[in-house]
Amino acid sequence: MNLRSGRLKTEMTDEAAEYTSSLEFDKIIFEADIKTNFAHTLMLKEQNIIDGEIADKILGALDQLKEEGYNALVFDPSVEDIHMAIENYVTEKIGPEAGFMHTAKSRNDQVATDIRLVLRDRIIEIQVGILEFIEGLVELAGQHLETVFIGYTHLQHAQPITIAHHLMAHVQALKRDYERLDDTYKRVNLNPLGSAAMTTTSFPINRQLTTDLLGFDDYLRNSMDGVSSRDFISETVFDLSALCSTLAKICEELILWSTYEFGIIEMADEYSSTSSIMPQKKNPDVAELARGKSTIATGELMTILSILKAIPYTYNRDLQEITPHLWNAVDVTKDTLSIVTKMLLSVKFNEDRCLELAGTNFATATDLADIMVREKKIPFRTAHKIVGRIVNEATAHGLTEKDVTSQYIDEIAEELGFDKLELDDELVQKALNPLENVKMRTVPGGPSPEMVEIARAD
Ligand code: ARG
Repeated sequence: MNLRSGRLKTEMTDEAAEYTSSLEFDKIIFEADIKTNFAHTLMLKEQNIIDGEIADKILGALDQLKEEGYNALVFDPSVEDIHMAIENYVTEKIGPEAGFMHTAKSRNDQVATDIRLVLRDRIIEIQVGILEFIEGLVELAGQHLETVFIGYTHLQHAQPITIAHHLMAHVQALKRDYERLDDTYKRVNLNPLGSAAMTTTSFPINRQLTTDLLGFDDYLRNSMDGVSSRDFISETVFDLSALCSTLAKICEELILWSTYEFGIIEMADEYSSTSSIMPQKKNPDVAELARGKSTIATGELMTILSILKAIPYTYNRDLQEITPHLWNAVDVTKDTLSIVTKMLLSVKFNEDRCLELAGTNFATATDLADIMVREKKIPFRTAHKIVGRIVNEATAHGLTEKDVTSQYIDEIAEELGFDKLELDDELVQKALNPLENVKMRTVPGGPSPEMVEIARAD
């Protein structure tokens, strides 16, 4: 069946046909299009809109196509898209009666339905990937509840944490990434079929029936909106973009942590490369590429939003241009999620180095100030000033945490014009010990092993 033998007298030029073709990406909606045709034809039969025997023949041919697969389709130059190729297949099998399957249906509602059918599966696949990552992180965190590590703000040593607490921070972000997709799914899983070209049809179709047959939660309530809305796509790609920024942050850390300077982790050889000239090199290429690819979803989001802007109602062919960007964002996100999961879970932490970083450079200074407040009831701002000066002096004279005694503290306090504090030396060293420091943070959400254990069970 060549659509152009009616209103139009000539074929498109080859260049124009190729330029406007969606076939390259229509393969992705092949199975969904069979499902859509199947549900629609079954409904036409149930509603007595088309003859039952003809409907059965159409359904039989669709079943056969499903068995034979995509390669059974013939794509001669007159075939504009997958919808025509499938109709041609059915026509080839049962003759011109195949044309009844297009009663009360347009490619406009059909393509919107197909995209939603495929996308809802892809969303679930990505959500499963997120859950697998979360499970792996929670397990890994269990092995590092007391692996003390340094936390950063401004990428400067801030306060001690544990590897477990850090991994569980990623878990929280991933949970939100999961929940966003959950929410978006509600708006994806709605049925546009029955909107037809844009105004539904005068045939007594049953939209609830196709909605049920296709497993949608509901049908879209306005036919103009049904054929032209694509915000379910931009919303999904935003969610993917947010997920990708979680992944990019993880990759950035792995790259930094694996440097000689940080020396915090050893990346698995399986996710590393070497240099063609420098034999000593172990490069985190996979993490770098994942960091690079993580930006693709954001780029696709910008493209999609820009195409969507100011498209008048209802269907315009511009909408076709959106779909490949959606699938690209979906594919890159899925692949990146999978590789980052495996890469992070195969990392080995250098526990000695983690502890060394946490116990140096006065990362525990906040707690020294805290004990002054707690034990001697001096205002936190005063304590902050004294400890700040202690760190300043100690650093200038090459002293470390171990050298900070009660006597040393009092010398500096007096220098600043405050009274002696006479703190207990043992208490001072306890406050400056990174593991003790972490253990004291028993507030919900904190890094103490017991709190992280609660977060792991959540
Ligand atoms: N390939 C088109 C798309 O993806 C099919 C939909 C309708 N085509 C049309 N010419 N009205 O949007």
